[in-house]
Amino acid sequence: MTDRYAVIGNPIAHSQSPQIHAAFARETGEDLAYTAIEGPLEGFEAAVGDFRAGGGRGLNVTVPFKLRAHDMADELSDRARLAGAANVLKFEGKQIHADNVDGVGLVIDIRDNLGVALTGQRVLILGAGGATRGVLMPILAERPASLVIANRTVAKALELAGIFAEHGPVRGLGYEALGADGGFDVVINATSSGLSGAALPVTAGLFGEAVLAYDMVYGKTWTPFLRLAREGGVGQVADGVGMLVEQAAESFLWWRGRRPGTRGVIKELRVPLE
Ligand code: ATR
Repeated sequence: MTDRYAVIGNPIAHSQSPQIHAAFARETGEDLAYTAIEGPLEGFEAAVGDFRAGGGRGLNVTVPFKLRAHDMADELSDRARLAGAANVLKFEGKQIHADNVDGVGLVIDIRDNLGVALTGQRVLILGAGGATRGVLMPILAERPASLVIANRTVAKALELAGIFAEHGPVRGLGYEALGADGGFDVVINATSSGLSGAALPVTAGLFGEAVLAYDMVYGKTWTPFLRLAREGGVGQVADGVGMLVEQAAESFLWWRGRRPGTRGVIKELRVPLE
């Protein structure tokens, strides 16, 4: 029988996950169907229950339900617990297992696809919301020389730095404390500013020594963040399409025990920046 999987979020119409997983299923020959579910804001848990009752084997979870997916789980991975959020669920018998593969997707994209090692590097991440929280643990696992979290609301950056301090050299600060001269090798934008096109309170000088500027949003071409990085002379720019595909591949691996190839799918989905 065909195994059923889906992505659940709200809104969900523009999700590329069904296309990605269909490509993975074709490539690996796995017999599965993957659809998109618009989860009701009031009834996320009931929608998950319905999907399971209908024979669903697993779900990817996206905005705004990642915290609720975490709360529903019977068993959490360490990284999902630390992130306080889950983006993938697996159903086995009565049990709901939850993981968060966003961060490992980001790290694999940066390290393996873009060829930029994080080990020993000075990493800056902009933003201290759910997107940042979800990726801190896997970044720290790469053993960067330092990891700075900068945020408009400084208290949130300090709070995250405090939570993750035992896992590596992380500190939090406000944008004004960044200075104008950079001093970072890799700069990651995890704020939601790229979605609205809003500019961030940072200067082009921030990218003077950087080999990579990475915007976690995708399909928006030259966001203000990426434009600023280019102006500042950064070595390489990337948006988050590779992270999206790599986290999908990690989900697929967890569910099916096989990791599909990702390069072809990334190439297909990438909106060229040039
Ligand atoms: P997500 O789950 O996508 O991280 P979130 O938890 O709402 O969403 O967090 C959004 C992040 O983007 C926050 O770090 C937010 O900064 P504040 O904590 O100060 O609100 C940041 N953000 C959004 N728009 C921004 C802007 N125009 N300039 C600077 N930071 C912005």
